[in-house]
Amino acid sequence: MTNPFEDTDAEYVVLVNEEAQYSLWPVFAAVPDGWTVALPATTRQQALDFVEAQWTDMRPRSLALRMAQDARDAAGGADAPAALTLSHTELYVADLDRAVAEFSEGYGFAAFADAESRGPGGAARSVALRQGGIVLVLTQALDEVHPAASFVARHGDGVADIALVSPDVRAAFAEAVRRSAGVLAEPAERDGYVTAVLEGGFTDVRHTLVQRPLDTDGFGLPGFTERPDAAAPDGDLTVLDHVAVTVEAGRLAPATAYYERVFGYHGVYEELMVQGREAMDSRAVRSPAGDVTFTVLAPSADHDPGHIGDFLERHGGGGVHHLAFATGDIIGSVARLRASGVEFLPTPDRYYDAMSERIQLLRHTPEALRAARILADEDHDGQLYQIFTRSTHPRRTLFFEIIERAGADSFGGGNVRALYEAVQAEKAASLVGSAR
Ligand SMILES: [Fe+2]
Repeated sequence: MTNPFEDTDAEYVVLVNEEAQYSLWPVFAAVPDGWTVALPATTRQQALDFVEAQWTDMRPRSLALRMAQDARDAAGGADAPAALTLSHTELYVADLDRAVAEFSEGYGFAAFADAESRGPGGAARSVALRQGGIVLVLTQALDEVHPAASFVARHGDGVADIALVSPDVRAAFAEAVRRSAGVLAEPAERDGYVTAVLEGGFTDVRHTLVQRPLDTDGFGLPGFTERPDAAAPDGDLTVLDHVAVTVEAGRLAPATAYYERVFGYHGVYEELMVQGREAMDSRAVRSPAGDVTFTVLAPSADHDPGHIGDFLERHGGGGVHHLAFATGDIIGSVARLRASGVEFLPTPDRYYDAMSERIQLLRHTPEALRAARILADEDHDGQLYQIFTRSTHPRRTLFFEIIERAGADSFGGGNVRALYEAVQAEKAASLVGSAR
């Protein structure tokens, strides 16, 4: 008789337990207590491939978390290459003038420096903008050779580079390579700046490492000429709170593992969100310095791909889904943004009807949040208020989030559920209404 665990012709499910350990399981056998189905019935080979893609860390989850904490404690709270902090976020765009106008007139960013590059790597024009501690670089290709041309053709406008500052790029590069980072460009020096480029953990996203000359101020960028007449930013956005990234099913664990291994990031949040037939896995990782947080979303393999699947299709694969800008006063910020023409996603009235039962607001009144269509969520540490802009891009992919934190360290998972329920309730009500 064939062993039911080894039968290559039989169908299997993949099970996962709370310690993130995986197991192939014959379809006919009952799922044991403590295990859930991570992949529905499939061939033995596909089940094995899934386990190999998902189970990248053989340690039980509780042990891995404990070891990561011990390592951070031993290093004084910082893993090497620890000295990497956020420099700027570069977006490749199809129309530079239009993008600069959107960020400056709409969001209140101030353009402060320009660059034009020509060389074997192609020609491009860039503008750097800032507001609070947020620095954005917008780049448009001027020929077909520059990587911005193929990026925009594949994905539309989007985030291509999350650049990191180091006081010693050569040392940081060597350490990242030792930790098996993908290399796109070796360290090179120009005009006193040392740069190197590493692969990111997501499709077509890279990380330029920047070492500034000692005499430059905080916003100096390699290859850029500062505008002597740059205006001050006209807004109150403070920092890049998080970068939300969408990846294909099965890519979540390898993507976040890359940041943990190469850059010493640590996991800060993890959730499987199920809404009806749709579900998404989410996991957030944060830099040792605490200034870069990636929240990574993936469709769950055993549910409908849903709106995450739609994003992957429209975007031509994984990539940055939204950038979240922090503010200390979301009511004031959103009013200013609306007055400047920024449009936000609508929120159904039913969301606000249910909000007062769900949450006792620490800041703002329910009336003010309802009037501005701002969402509220809470976790063990406090609350957060957030709203999402309507994408202005033809593929409806890249958009932005405005977020105010009142102690909360999570990312609004409660809102995903509350919005889903409000939309479902609204749909049900309109069906009842139309049946009358
Ligand atoms: Fe977000």
